[in-house]
Amino acid sequence: MSTWNLNTWKISTKMMPETAKPETAKPETERSVSVTDTHKRTGSSPQSAQAKLVLNGVSHQYGDGESMLTVLDGLSCTVSAGELVAVVGPSGSGKSTFLSIAGALLTPSSGEVQIGGRSLAGLHARELADLRLHEIGFIFQGANLLPYLKVEEQLRFVAKLGRADKQQAARRADELLERLGLTARRRHYPDKLSGGERQRVAVARALMNDPSVILADEPTASLDADRGRDVTRLLAERVKAEGKAGVIVTHDERILPYCDRVLRLENGQLREG
Ligand SMILES: Nc1ncnc2c1ncn2[C@@H]1O[C@H](COP(=O)(O)OP(=O)(O)OP(=O)(O)O)[C@@H](O)[C@H]1O
Ligand SMILES: [Mg+2]
Repeated sequence: MSTWNLNTWKISTKMMPETAKPETAKPETERSVSVTDTHKRTGSSPQSAQAKLVLNGVSHQYGDGESMLTVLDGLSCTVSAGELVAVVGPSGSGKSTFLSIAGALLTPSSGEVQIGGRSLAGLHARELADLRLHEIGFIFQGANLLPYLKVEEQLRFVAKLGRADKQQAARRADELLERLGLTARRRHYPDKLSGGERQRVAVARALMNDPSVILADEPTASLDADRGRDVTRLLAERVKAEGKAGVIVTHDERILPYCDRVLRLENGQLREG
């Protein structure tokens, strides 16, 4: 699950223009309208406005025949707007598999995933790409910044991929850089940043297109305790302030106090505590 390259990054780190969520709604003229925007306005039930991410009886197997491995086995969970959930579990328990399925990077063998009240079942590749582009923000352990783009360009790049309005994107980038304490680093390339700064850029980039759902796979693993806490606190703040659903897969117990709930992945299912 950890293999990562530019192409998959391009597909998966794109998020959305200002959404139709009540708390961030903007006049139509101020934002670009995508296929997903249309679905957001027409496809969400009142209940789904709260439940941003739902997995229902999700199972996943790798391989087949004798080599078949069941990783997820009837897993269900709901993450609501403004909620940051930690997922813990031993190595190999299926945390990254769960995150990939929640982020529409991997289709489960069975079960249903809903994002923003919309079921992913039966969506075509193009619709899934559009959904990833607009609805989901990924943050990974190693930040995965593009080495040839300066900090502010990393943010503008994902906005451009998301077909966001240029001026609006510039404002959003300024705001995020300010909030994440990166304004003084905006013209630096990733190799001139500290590990904590790189990870904060990854957080800013994941938030840039205003996704409904933020999925982070061990985002603090390469950071010391203080930087790890900083990054998690910032992430928690943005999840709350912008009414997103956040999931952090982590082995780092020190960041659990910043999360609203801790779920344990065991025997292919998620349990409280
Ligand atoms: N593409 C794949 N094909 C076959 N098996 C896979 C594939 N990806 C993952 N697995 C297996 O599925 C199981 C769960 O993997 P996964 O990466 O989801 O675990 P994890 O909980 O994220 O582990 P870690 O904490 O080490 O990152 C592991 O046994 C792994 O070897
Ligand atoms: Mg993993």
